Amino acid sequence: MLAVEVKNIKKTFKTKKDTVEAVKDVSFSVEKGEIFGLLGPNGAGKSTTILMLTTLLRITDGEAKILGSDVATEDKSVREKIGVALQDTGIDNILTGRELFFSTARLWGYSVKDSETRTNELLELVGLTEAADRRVKTYSGGMKRRLDLGLSLVNSPEILFLDEPTTGLDPGSRRVLWDEIKRLRDRGVTVILTTQYLEEADELADRIAIIDEGLVVAEGTSDQLKASIGGDVITFSFSNNSDLENAKKLLTDYKQEGNDLRITVQNGASKIPSFVNKLTENNIEIDAVSASKPTLDDVFLKVTGYRLEGSETSTKSEQPIKES
Ligand SMILES: Nc1ncnc2c1ncn2[C@@H]1O[C@H](COP(=O)(O)OP(=O)(O)OP(=O)(O)O)[C@@H](O)[C@H]1O
Ligand SMILES: [Mg+2]
Repeated sequence: MLAVEVKNIKKTFKTKKDTVEAVKDVSFSVEKGEIFGLLGPNGAGKSTTILMLTTLLRITDGEAKILGSDVATEDKSVREKIGVALQDTGIDNILTGRELFFSTARLWGYSVKDSETRTNELLELVGLTEAADRRVKTYSGGMKRRLDLGLSLVNSPEILFLDEPTTGLDPGSRRVLWDEIKRLRDRGVTVILTTQYLEEADELADRIAIIDEGLVVAEGTSDQLKASIGGDVITFSFSNNSDLENAKKLLTDYKQEGNDLRITVQNGASKIPSFVNKLTENNIEIDAVSASKPTLDDVFLKVTGYRLEGSETSTKSEQPIKES
């Protein structure tokens, strides 16, 4: 049985003035024990998707199952199997970490004794034992996100949904959370997380779906997605704008990023000399040139037409001339 099975789900928000198609068509499957990453920019529809899959928001159209239970018609059994850490948590900052774990365990129906045991286990698991008796409002951002993660685990869920678990954290705290999430996966928990960070998807997710404007535009393992670029990326840098503009007339299918032009070819390194010759024959001065394996960044650019971080729109040459 699949952990998560999503088929063509949609979400349309209707307000008095207009209609927003937050999720237009999203499908994906997650195997048990996988970390699945939904990677996309602000407004892509990540949170809306998570809210629908966790029964917190009604699906407008399509179907989703969690361990075989339909989120629309079997919401109660879905809720028993899942843990959720939402993007905007309204955590009560006046309580201590220990109090929050304890009261959450009681809400899930654990006895006082079991709630105490569960509290201690989870405080330990997310590394908050020492801070357990401090009020949550004194916690750092990283500690709060670890608290969110811990609280989502109180009912020992088989499937965990984490909406942007590391957004706003420094690289060190992010890595601590990654390690915790991997440890959960290794203990058999299935994790569905959203992220806007390419590095996070690359490092953490066994499989990735890139979501943009409410649509899944690519899906696969990080390696599969990178291989789909079909070659290596050659980057030409120009310090002079007229050189850049002249080079654009000579190259085909490039993507521009600032003063760089990037093209994708097979066996990039071996193709560099012929490109350099062609450009220098036309009196174009190249500042630097390099060939590299594609990154998830390149994949994102290819499937969406823009970059996820510090985006620069892509362009195509109007007068394509074939590579020699
Ligand atoms: N309750 C709502 N009513 C109307 N529009 C909404 C509502 N919730 C979300 N939207 C819109 O739906 C789109 C997707 O929003 P969503 O929050 O799912 O994106 P996201 O990928 O989680 O973005 P972020 O990375 O900023 O969290 C956005 O255009 C958003 O403005
Ligand atoms: Mg969101």
